[in-house]
Formats: sequence, C-alpha cells, structure tokens
Amino acid sequence: MMRPRSFAACCPTIGGRRGAYAIVTVRSRWRGGVPQKKFNLCVRILTVMCRSLPPLRTLLAFTFSTVALLAAVATALLGGHDAADRIAAREMREMERLASQFGGMLVQGEAIHLAGLRAAAQMPALRHLRADDEERRALLRAVSEAYPGFNQVSLLRPDGRVIMDAWDAQRGSVTAADHAASGIAPLPGFGVPVSGADGRLFGMLAARLSPEWMRDMMVAFRAMLREPLVPEIMVLRQDGTVLLGPPGLEGSIVPVGAGLQDWPDGTSYLVGTAAITSSGAFPERSLLVMTRLPAGVALAPVRQLQRQVALAAGVAAALAGGLGWLLARAIARPGEALATAARFPGDAAGQGPGLGLGSAWYREAREVAVGLRGLVVDMRRIARHRAEVEARLQELNTTLEQRVAERTAALEAATQQLAAAQRLEAIGKLTGGVAHGINNLLQVIETGLTLLHSSDDSARRRVAEASMAKAVDRGARLTRQLLAFARQQSLAPQLLDPGRLLEESRDLLAQSLRDDIRLTMDIAADTWPVMVDRTQLEVALLNIAVNARDAMPAGGHLHMATANVTFPDTATAPDGLAGRFVRIAVTDNGEGMPAEVLGRAFEPFFTTKDPSRGSGLGLSQVWGFARQSGGTARIESRLGGGTTVTLLLPRADGPVMDEKGVPATPAAEEGQRMVSVLLVEDDPDVAELLSEVLETLGHRVRHLPTGAAALEAIKRGERPDVVITDMMMPGGVNGLALARELRARLPHLPVVLATGYSEKAAEVQEAGVPVLHKPFRAAELEAVLEQVIRGGGMAGAEASH
Ligand SMILES: Nc1ncnc2c1ncn2[C@@H]1O[C@H](COP(=O)(O)OP(=O)(O)OP(=O)(O)O)[C@@H](O)[C@H]1O
Ligand SMILES: [Mg+2]
Repeated sequence: MMRPRSFAACCPTIGGRRGAYAIVTVRSRWRGGVPQKKFNLCVRILTVMCRSLPPLRTLLAFTFSTVALLAAVATALLGGHDAADRIAAREMREMERLASQFGGMLVQGEAIHLAGLRAAAQMPALRHLRADDEERRALLRAVSEAYPGFNQVSLLRPDGRVIMDAWDAQRGSVTAADHAASGIAPLPGFGVPVSGADGRLFGMLAARLSPEWMRDMMVAFRAMLREPLVPEIMVLRQDGTVLLGPPGLEGSIVPVGAGLQDWPDGTSYLVGTAAITSSGAFPERSLLVMTRLPAGVALAPVRQLQRQVALAAGVAAALAGGLGWLLARAIARPGEALATAARFPGDAAGQGPGLGLGSAWYREAREVAVGLRGLVVDMRRIARHRAEVEARLQELNTTLEQRVAERTAALEAATQQLAAAQRLEAIGKLTGGVAHGINNLLQVIETGLTLLHSSDDSARRRVAEASMAKAVDRGARLTRQLLAFARQQSLAPQLLDPGRLLEESRDLLAQSLRDDIRLTMDIAADTWPVMVDRTQLEVALLNIAVNARDAMPAGGHLHMATANVTFPDTATAPDGLAGRFVRIAVTDNGEGMPAEVLGRAFEPFFTTKDPSRGSGLGLSQVWGFARQSGGTARIESRLGGGTTVTLLLPRADGPVMDEKGVPATPAAEEGQRMVSVLLVEDDPDVAELLSEVLETLGHRVRHLPTGAAALEAIKRGERPDVVITDMMMPGGVNGLALARELRARLPHLPVVLATGYSEKAAEVQEAGVPVLHKPFRAAELEAVLEQVIRGGGMAGAEASH
C-alpha cells in the first residue's frame, strides 16, 4: 500500500509561489482507489498551473477588474430591468386611465341625456291632459333631436303600453329586430315618470341610447387622444361579452383580465379595464370599459430600453476589462522593469530583455535601480560604520567598567583608610581622655601616698586619705561611664513606671538645676512600664538635666514629658528599632548646638566645656544606657533654638516594682561571722591586698590564681564558706564558668564575682551571681559577703556605689 504523499512533494515548480504551494500541499487522501495514472495526471496539471500562474500582483489586478466588470454588468442589468418594469407599469396605468376616462365620458353622456328626459317630462305639453297627440309627438321629436344619443323617445302608459313614439322606427343601425336577431338584448332605455297636471301619474317618458351614439363617442374619444399609440376601446358585459368594440369582436366573449394577457387570437395584449355603473341607459347596470394594445406595440419602448441596457452593460464590461488589463499591466510592469533594470543597471543603451528599449518605463526603472544600488552601497557603508562604532563603544564600555571598578576600589580603600584613621583618632582621643583621667587620679594617689609616708600629722594624713578616696571614686565613675558608653556596664533592670520615676526624681533633678530654671513635667497617665536599671536611668536624666542647665546660663525652662510611641516597621523606626516604646523627652530652651557639636555630642570625651566643668562623658552614658536597655537616644537641637534629648525605652510587661528595686539589706546587727574565703584572682597584687582586707575583716582566706585551680581544690574536697572570684582569668575557666560549675556541684556554696569589666554583663545578670564592681571598697566587700552568707549566696545581690 502506498503511503499518502503530499502534492508538494511531487511538484518541483512551486518554489516562491505561496498561493500555489498552499493549494498543492493539500494531502491526497482522496486518492484511495484512484488509479496511479489519474493521480499522476492531476499532479502534472497542477504543476503546469503552478508554472503558468501569473505573479500575485497581476492576479490581484485581474481579480479587481473581474469584480469591477461583474459589478458593471450587474448594475446595468439590474438598472435596465428596473427601468423596463417602470415603463411597463406606466403603460399599464395609462391603459387603465384611458379605459376609466372613456367610461366616465359614457356615464356623463348618459346623465346629460337623463337630465334632458327629466326636463321634457315636466313640459306642460306633455303633462296637460288635453294636449293633443301631435303636440306631444312634436315634443318627443324635439327631445329626440336635442339629444342625438336617443335612438327613440316614447311615451308609455303606466302599464308599459306605448302611447306614442317620436319616430315610427328606431334610429340608428341597431334596431330591436337586429338585437333580437343577434341574441343581444336591445339597449334598454330609461324611463321618467310623467304626472298629469292634477298630480296623478299619467305615464312614462322612455328613451334609449343608440349604439351609434356610443360608437360616435368612442370615435370622438380616440380622435381626441394625442397619444402616439391609440388603444382599441371596448365596452363589455361583466361576463366578457363585447357590446361595443372592433367590428369583428362585437357579440363575442373575450378575456376580461387586465395587464399583459395572451388572447385566444394568439396575440399578447396590454389590457386596461375600468368598471362603470350605468343609470339604466345601457344594457347592463355594471359594464366594463376595456382598452387594449398589442404588447409588441405597447412595450416597444421597454424592449428598446432593454436592448440599450444590454449594449451599455457590454460596453461597461469591455471598459472594465480593458481598464483591469491596463491596471494589471501598470502594476506588473514597473516591477518587471525594475527587476530587469536592477539586473542590468549599467546597460545605458537599454539592452534589458523584455522591455521597451529606451522607453520611459525603462529609463525610469533604471534610475530607480541605480538609486537603489547607491542606497545599498550607502547602507553597507553605514552598517560598516555602525559596526566600527559599536566595537569602539564596546571597548570604551569595557575600559569604562574597568575604570569605574578601579575608582570604586580606590574609593573603598580611601573610605576604609578614612574609617581606620577616624577609628584611630577616636581611640586616640578615648585613650587620651582615659589616660588624662587616670593620670589625675594617680597624681592624687601618688601625692596622697607621699604625704602618708612623709607626714605623721594625723590631720594631714586624713586629708591625704580623703583625697585618695575621692580620687578612687572619680576613677570608679570614670570607668563606669566608659563602660556605660561601651554598653558593657552590668545593669540591674527592673520593671519601672517611668512616670513615677520622673516624679520621684523631681527633687534630685531640681537640686542639680539652678533657681532660675523652671522644671515642668508632663507625664502621660497610661505610660507603659519599662524594664531598665533604675539608677542608670536616673543618672541619664541627671546628665541631660545638667547639660540643659549648662546650656541655659541666664535661666530658662526645662520640660520633661513621657509618651507611648509605636514604630510599626524598622524602615521608619529610629535606629531601625520597631515596636512599642516609652519616650522620655527632655527639652530646654537654652542656647542649642551647632550642627558639628550635635553630630558628636554622644561621643565619649567630646565636650565644649572647659575641663573643670565637663568631661564629655554625660551624653555617652545616656546613649550607651539607652542602647544597652534595648532602646536608643536622640538629640534635636538648633543653635539658639533649644535642645530636646529623647530617650526611647522598650515597653515591658508585668507588674511594676514599687521600691527602688534593691532588696533591703538585712541589718548586720547579728555581728560578723568569721568565714573561710576561697579567693580566685590572677592579679597577685590585687589578690594580696584583698586577702589583707578579708583577713582584717576577720575571715580566713585561701588564694588560688586560676579558676581551674579552684575547681581542682573543690574536687579534692575543699569546702570554703564562700568563693570570691575575679571574672577575667587565664587558663580557660573564667569567673562565670567557675561560678556555674560550683553551683552545679555545690548549690549552697556562695560565689561572688569581682570584676572591673563586664563584657559578659548580660550573662552574669542572667546567671544571678552577685557582683562586686571593681574598684570596690572594703565596706562593700563586707556587705556583699554578709549578704551572700545570710541569703544562701545566690540571690541577685549587687554592690552599688
Ligand atoms: N542641652 C544642651 N544644650 C546645648 N549643648 C549641649 C546640651 N547637651 C549637651 N550639649 C553639648 O554636648 C557636649 C557633650 O555633652 P556631654 O554631656 O556628653 O559632655 P559635657 O556635658 O561636656 O561633660 P560631662 O557631661 O561629662 O560633664 C557638651 O559639651 C555640649 O557642648
Ligand atoms: Mg554633660
């Protein structure tokens, strides 16, 4: 069985002819039982068709002209047909009009005659009983002569018998005898009653209209017509019997239909009819008047028109065809000419094959071809140029990218250098500040020690001791503030009502201000609670208040306000902190800050005050505290426009502590108990001094230099009453780790952490280990020892200054 093939596969000539291709790619499923020969023949026919198909544009032109041609012919024929119909209808209407016009004439004539008869019936000569017959006959004759349509005028008795006639015989060619002979009823007359002078019916005046009169009317009517074609006129009974008409037809029965009628004589007639109603003078009361013309004569103008229309359609078709052909040529030829000329543009002599050589077509096409060639050359040049430009651009782009990358790298390096320099500068300043502070303290201590050594004067020695103690205090404050800025201080957060805290701090704040400064507070009733270190918050508020005081040398107004604020998303929140916060805003109307001061105000050691009044650590504490508490601080200030320092502290949940949060230290009235202390401290000087102090306080001390050693000792079974350990120690086990380990092993063994630097402040806080902040006083050490020994050791006790 053969596989179905597509015609396209068999048709090698279809390249480039899309229309043909579409036709021949139809798959030959129908081939089923068709013999191979027939199939091959079909393929060959299609192949030839494909080859002989004219170009598409010629086909288009041909199609256009064919459509135009058909449209022209159709229009002509339809128009012609329409006009012919209109002419035929008009002729028809004309025939009917003539029939009804003649009918009208007859009826009118009849009415005139009837009126005459009525007038005669009123004549005294007729009505007078004594009038003699001659007079009456004379009257009848006079009437008969006055109205030539009457063929007889008779006076009848009321019973219908004739009294007398005007004439002895009827006038005209049709007599009663004739009528009787022809079988046609004699023309009836009409009668008018005649009353005598006494008013009684005397008789009837009767008359008949003669057929001659009607014929004369017809002749006169036809003569009156000015039409080029005068139709034949007939008067018929309703059944078609011809009463009056062409001689051969009178008495015969003819078809009564109107319009185009085929008559029995084999002729086709255009027939018009009109019905008339007689007053009685005619043989029937209702008669038909018919007009007829042979169709060939009546419709001659129609035939002529149809011939003209056919001729016009032919001419239109010829014209459309011709135009179509011209159009097809006009469309096809420039293309051919252009193609040929483009192939032979240099052939000036016009050697192009198949074109009118040297013709206008050819010249024009050649110019276009030459132009096109130029265009092609230009386009190639432009394309080359463009490629070059693109290549250059590409190169430029690459180098640009490279340059940008280099510059960016350089910029980054410079930025890093700058940042490093700034960092170094900051560290330098910080170090300088710290060194300066410590030097001052050392200076005091050094001088104090010298005094202690060199003088036995107790008053002097007390002064020296007091100065040294103050120096230690200042040093402690210095390091605390630094730690606060570094967010490394150990905090003791507690739930607080910030409003209440402000109220409670009012006195403290007022004391730090001057009398010429008015302090007001606006505390929102429902201020949320916060979880912060109370002391640090007080210190921060104090720092802000003191700054405000310094900024209002001539007095002013300090206003503190609390509010609840919510920042729904980090994008809009200050410092990227989203959530619910309590805002404490402290506003003064002092001198404000210029932008450069504002930009650096939080920096530690940044101050515009002279060294005796300011260390530059106040706002850095504020900022560090706020940040460490999970919030932040901000400053808004304008030179001469006052300052607002805002603290944002995160909202906390839970009950607010009423008191200062530091559990009351039980009174040490029970007296000191002597305990054994395991002191773990890597610094031998500190260890030595601490041991001294502890022993002075009456305790037993064993010192170990590392956490590991302490653990070892405990493992060996050593059982001190309390362990005091430094936080930072070498050997892998720091103070916190030691405290945790000991808690795990000996839950009732109290451990106190002594530290000067609490990097792990949060962890320490979490672990709930009591802390002694270095430097601490002997009294503090004693108090903590007391506390942990009484309280079982591990409750959150903390030494504070
Ligand atoms: N309310 C304010 N009005 C104007 N300037 C202020 C105000 N608060 C701070 N400043 C400026 O910011 C600087 C830094 O303040 P900060 O509190 O950190 O240090 P200080 O007040 O100079 O010193 P310290 O607080 O350590 O005694 C101040 O020197 C001052 O110039
Ligand atoms: Mg300050």
